[in-house]
Amino acid sequence: MGLFSRSTQTIGLDIGSSSIKVMELLQDKKNASWRLKTFGMVDLPPEAVVDGAVMNPNVVVDAIRELVDRCKIKTKDVTAAISGHSVIIKRINLPQMSFEELEESIQWEAEQYIPFDINDVNISFQILDDKGDEAGQMEVLLVAARKELVNEYQSLIQEAGLKPRIVDVDAFAVENMFSLNYDAPKELVALVNIGASTVNLNILHNGVTAFTRDVQMGGRQFTEEIQRALGISYEEAEMLKVGGSEEDQDAVIPEEIENILSAVSENLATEVHRSLDFHLSATPGVPLSRVYLSGGAARTPGLARAIGRATGSPIEIADPFRKITIDEREFSPRYLHDKSLQAAVCVGLAMRRVGDQ
Ligand SMILES: Nc1ncnc2c1ncn2[C@@H]1O[C@H](COP(=O)(O)OP(=O)(O)OP(=O)(O)O)[C@@H](O)[C@H]1O
Ligand SMILES: [Mg+2]
Repeated sequence: MGLFSRSTQTIGLDIGSSSIKVMELLQDKKNASWRLKTFGMVDLPPEAVVDGAVMNPNVVVDAIRELVDRCKIKTKDVTAAISGHSVIIKRINLPQMSFEELEESIQWEAEQYIPFDINDVNISFQILDDKGDEAGQMEVLLVAARKELVNEYQSLIQEAGLKPRIVDVDAFAVENMFSLNYDAPKELVALVNIGASTVNLNILHNGVTAFTRDVQMGGRQFTEEIQRALGISYEEAEMLKVGGSEEDQDAVIPEEIENILSAVSENLATEVHRSLDFHLSATPGVPLSRVYLSGGAARTPGLARAIGRATGSPIEIADPFRKITIDEREFSPRYLHDKSLQAAVCVGLAMRRVGDQ
């Protein structure tokens, strides 16, 4: 870490389907602790980004410009993230070889694991265990992302006047956020980031990714159900939903909305459980010791409980700012608390430095 000067720390830019978030973090050289320098959000209209695909680039570019301007950000170097079907993450076993050898042969080795033409993807990898076992095998985490999507994000960022330095993956950003704030757990834990239209799942075993998956579900579904049931606009439905979930206990949620929230919660929880179970059945006998929730929709009343029931695991709402030093004269604690779950991905992105892996 000491290898890189402060100037190579990047801005985290999270282009979500409901809002864009931007963050700058500074790391203390001596004790490695993190401090929040900048955090801002701007809402996007519902059609600008759909399931991770940018439908309206101009709206997104303008929103990024406005946000960077408003937050008075001077740094240009950006870490952004992609997610969804265009990203394939797999743990694979390969014959023992050096990093350099793998770099040479990864295209060829990866081909059989990737459902796209190998020439259409960017490939990166991490050797997870190069100690080697008797069979002379090693475990590698393979990440393949469609060039088309990566290029699209890069040109958006350039158009907004910034430099796209690192393109990360949502699920890994959540993992980075988690590692900053929580001690590496020995056992199996699941990180479940529930955004507006995507749920990023990441199971960690001994602190390393064992499985990730993105499921196209999220907070939008609650809003759309309310919209349909009450015959109101999306914006009105969103207000009703979020207004009803204020932490003050006297907030009255109309019964009709409560019923919708709980029906959609059950659905989403079942889907989360099914995806997690798919992987857990591969490691029988190792229980999931905890599920950490983040993402804006994790605040939906009753959703955490529904996921707890479906998975049979203890649930914890993550605190993305848990170990980040915050100057309360610069940031309203109330605002940060309200937005903290939506900031989860952005925290992970803002931790990245140009040149690290
Ligand atoms: N207090 C709240 N109660 C319920 N839902 C909430 C609350 N606050 C935010 N949300 C929901 O969280 C979602 C936004 O979360 P987030 O910012 O993590 O998603 P995103 O990054 O924009 O979307 P995605 O990553 O899926 O593209 C919206 O659907 C919003 O309605
Ligand atoms: Mg998101």
